[in-house]
Amino acid sequence: MRARAVVTFLAAGALALTAGCGTTQDAADDTPLVGVAMPTVEQTRWVADGDNLSAQFRSLGYDVDMQYAEDDAAVQVEQIRAMVDAGADALVIGSVDGTALKGVLAEAHGAGIAVISYDRLIRDSADVDYYASFDNWQVGVLQGTALLRGLGVLDESGAETGRKGPFHIEVFAGSPDDNNATVFYDGAMSVLRPYLDSGVLEVASGQVEREDVAIDGWDNATAEQRMTSLLGSYGGGTKLDGVLAPNDGIAQAVIAATGTLDDVPVVPGQDAEIPAVKSIAAGEQYATVYKDTRQLAEVTVQIVEALLAGGTPEVNDTTTYDNGAKVVPSYLLAPQSVTKDNYTKVLVDSGYYTAQEIG
Ligand code: BGC
Repeated sequence: MRARAVVTFLAAGALALTAGCGTTQDAADDTPLVGVAMPTVEQTRWVADGDNLSAQFRSLGYDVDMQYAEDDAAVQVEQIRAMVDAGADALVIGSVDGTALKGVLAEAHGAGIAVISYDRLIRDSADVDYYASFDNWQVGVLQGTALLRGLGVLDESGAETGRKGPFHIEVFAGSPDDNNATVFYDGAMSVLRPYLDSGVLEVASGQVEREDVAIDGWDNATAEQRMTSLLGSYGGGTKLDGVLAPNDGIAQAVIAATGTLDDVPVVPGQDAEIPAVKSIAAGEQYATVYKDTRQLAEVTVQIVEALLAGGTPEVNDTTTYDNGAKVVPSYLLAPQSVTKDNYTKVLVDSGYYTAQEIG
């Protein structure tokens, strides 16, 4: 750790250990160092997250060591270990595999380093201090609701229209090693299940359980292959009306696979990534869920600032996110549904994108 050993929530023993651990850092350099461990550059949202975090920490005078793990859990463990060895004061981690960090986080806490779980909940470790994310259940609810609206089962106000279908859908979920994927799926299914039970919705392939519909590593190519193979298995006459896609990458992969169909099915996504927003503007992808990564960075920086100053960070949820070892105090931001009707207002007027970027 650099000279700044001010993380007062630590046990005295940990501080003593910290003070004694030799690093190659200049002892006179008391600029706090934050290690930012991000999962992948494959989805542009994580690039935006990394850029926002880095810019905000740097503007407050922090040094930042930012690493992307290329979706490889073992690589991420090594990156985090290197941050610990370099004397980081705090770690901000968007995990690849939420269950793979127990060992290295024990080392981090042993060295007196604050650990913030970023967007994805780190599981099965008591060495996680805070969680900054969105209301992930609500993300799923917004996705399920958008699907029902796009199909015309619900109207704009969310009221039932009385349309009985049956509408043929398929269901996709995110990576099983990402806690968020479970929460998104459960939130979406809480909205869709009653309509599956009543027969308004029918899953054409019959595959609906989480283990049957999860896409390992959120991999878009795998999602496209699955959609292609499902379409190939339909008997004549089955028209695909909608697909629950858990994020924009998978939504775009699904839409690519349905390119030969007469009509694009109703597909909601998540992240408001630029290709998806363009697709929404063009009337292809039906909806996305916007999560303002600038705000998530702000919340995270606030948590780190408070911890390193020996204070108590502001949180707004102390009950929801049990990671298997502890309930992690959380700051959860509100996600927002975006369709063709409101994308300009929500995404351009807020300054998230310029009109040129999505034009
Ligand atoms: C994030 C999503 C993202 C997905 C794939 C999830 O944990 O919350 O925003 O699309 O990971 O990277």
